[in-house]
Amino acid sequence: MRIDILSIFSENYFAPLNDSIVKRAQESGVVQIGYRNLRDYTDDLHRTVDDRPYGGGPGMVFKLEPLYNAITDIKREESVLICPSPCGEVLCQSVIKDLLCYKHIIFICGHYEGIDDRINNLFPVREISIGDYVLTSGALASTVIIDAVVRQIPGVVGCGDSVLEDSFYDGLLDHPHYTRPAEFMGLRVPEVLLSGNHHEIAKWRKEKAEESTKRRRPDLWERYMKSKHIY
Ligand code: ADE
Repeated sequence: MRIDILSIFSENYFAPLNDSIVKRAQESGVVQIGYRNLRDYTDDLHRTVDDRPYGGGPGMVFKLEPLYNAITDIKREESVLICPSPCGEVLCQSVIKDLLCYKHIIFICGHYEGIDDRINNLFPVREISIGDYVLTSGALASTVIIDAVVRQIPGVVGCGDSVLEDSFYDGLLDHPHYTRPAEFMGLRVPEVLLSGNHHEIAKWRKEKAEESTKRRRPDLWERYMKSKHIY
């Protein structure tokens, strides 16, 4: 298995992967882990990877161009893209087992408010959450997921410790985020976010958050509806 990590951090941030069991797995050659800095895929003087969100609001959003450049550089036919996100499917052992089947996994580590949502229109991206809480960075979540996957590779964990023993706003998932450019490879940012109409933007975001929660996390949706005494 080959794993590539796309982030804005140095290899030092992923220190747990260079120690102990995962380190030994790399040394024995059963897994190779590579690190790519997204700033190396920018083309401006300041090596900009993020920008302000369309429609206003706090934080910054990861831009598409550096991600697109990095992914197209390292993606192979058998590659799968994983983006750690609090909005993704929740990590559990069956998800880990699923990931074990891949030969090449690329982790896209977001930061700040997240990644321009049009990444999903450009590549098939599997979003995975490591739980219902928000970390400062997807890099930490990637470290958790990688650790959990690597230890399941046959032979990585010794017989003694057999592996067999082994944004939320108002209760809703986050809405999609977009940043410049307004159009990329024919994909346009939703017009309402360019309108400057804050009432309409807030309404659109709430609707998208509700749609997303209902579709992706029916358990959260049910809890949300109950808390509003809708049931
Ligand atoms: N990024 C920020 N919080 C996260 C979480 N809970 N799971 C995965 N990625 C994240």
